[in-house]
Amino acid sequence: MTLTPTPRIAVVVVAAGSGTRLGLDVPKAFVGLDEHTILRHALRCVFAAPAAQVVVVAPAGREGEALTDAREAAGDRSELVSVVTGGATRQASVAAGLHALWPSVEVVLIHDAARALTPPEVFARVIDAVDRTGWGVVPALPVVDTIKRVDGDRIVEAVDRAQLAAAQTPQGFRRDVLETAYAVASQEYTDDAALVAAAGHRVAIVDGDAHGFKITTPADLDRARAIAAPVAPVETGLGPRPSGPRVGVGTDVHAFGGEGALWLAGLEWPGEPALSGHSDGDAVAHAIVDALLSAAGLGDIGTHFGTSRPEFAGAHADAFLARTRALLGEAGWSIANVAVQIQSNRPKLAPRRAEAEAALSAALGGAPVSLSATTTDGLGFTGAGEGVQAFAVALIQPA
Ligand code: CTP
Ligand code: MG
Repeated sequence: MTLTPTPRIAVVVVAAGSGTRLGLDVPKAFVGLDEHTILRHALRCVFAAPAAQVVVVAPAGREGEALTDAREAAGDRSELVSVVTGGATRQASVAAGLHALWPSVEVVLIHDAARALTPPEVFARVIDAVDRTGWGVVPALPVVDTIKRVDGDRIVEAVDRAQLAAAQTPQGFRRDVLETAYAVASQEYTDDAALVAAAGHRVAIVDGDAHGFKITTPADLDRARAIAAPVAPVETGLGPRPSGPRVGVGTDVHAFGGEGALWLAGLEWPGEPALSGHSDGDAVAHAIVDALLSAAGLGDIGTHFGTSRPEFAGAHADAFLARTRALLGEAGWSIANVAVQIQSNRPKLAPRRAEAEAALSAALGGAPVSLSATTTDGLGFTGAGEGVQAFAVALIQPA
């Protein structure tokens, strides 16, 4: 028989949203900040706070990934973790999380996974205030922008920002208060504090934290990534400032046997067998990425596009190449030219060579890309038709 642990506090981490405003192909909580997802970062902060039951509310079909993230973040406290499936709205997701609370829990914190960088002190502050007052507690920041009430594009009046506060999470409540408020709620509220206040309970604020911002838009994601993984100057011996041209080399191999259509050299090849891989298996694009990163001394494809970046799963050459060009640009480099050779029996490149060169070049902001292809006289894995190999050389110069 396993005994249920008896923590007094629980944190419900809601991560079941789709991230519509972020606009990526994966649910927001599973987007990578560095080598870890948004959810994993959020849970790192949760587990740095006082010991508590942790309920992760995941999108349907993603429960397994959420559990993996949660167990990794929990370390030796993984018996405190459970994962439940979320609902169509945030409120429905919180309600699903509340059903999983253990009997010992007296104080519940509801936290948005999207506030991935909320420091542990905020959790401690909220718990302390709930314990002292018995009220609902919301971490909040003063509003810094000048706020206007508007009607369409017309300003109606200024709003006194001294009377306003921007609410964050984790929001903390006595369990009995929260459960009753959820049981009687008859409409959707924007946060748990509003729902609890509507049920007639008092709610107070404590200091929030600037790092507790919610990752909502692509700009928020950029900010979170900059905080989570500041781009450290890579020690390469090449010197920190570009001073002259550099060359780089990259190779890649993918086996035939993927699903769907073949993607190679930035083009779709209907009727040709697909390559397998985490992304679309485009060995040409991947070799170019490695050549460019190696020229700039910025690591390799795994450094920037590993499997922890699910938004690149299934991505095509244009996404990889555009991001690589941006990385080089941030480091002060522009691309002079790229040359690639494909070793493979198929597809026949010649009829579409110009089209492929144009597609790859466009993805690199117009830098010239030349493409050649060869077979290997029946030798090796390319000769046996098992896969494709690509070799790329890139020349870059100070921007
Ligand atoms: N959330 C949830 N279940 C939902 C909707 C949202 O668990 N049905 C969670 C999100 O995962 C997020 C938090 O509530 O951690 C705050 O929501 P928001 O930032 O709006 O996230 P999304 O709903 O995913 O984003 P969007 O509104 O842009 O689609
Ligand atoms: Mg939402």
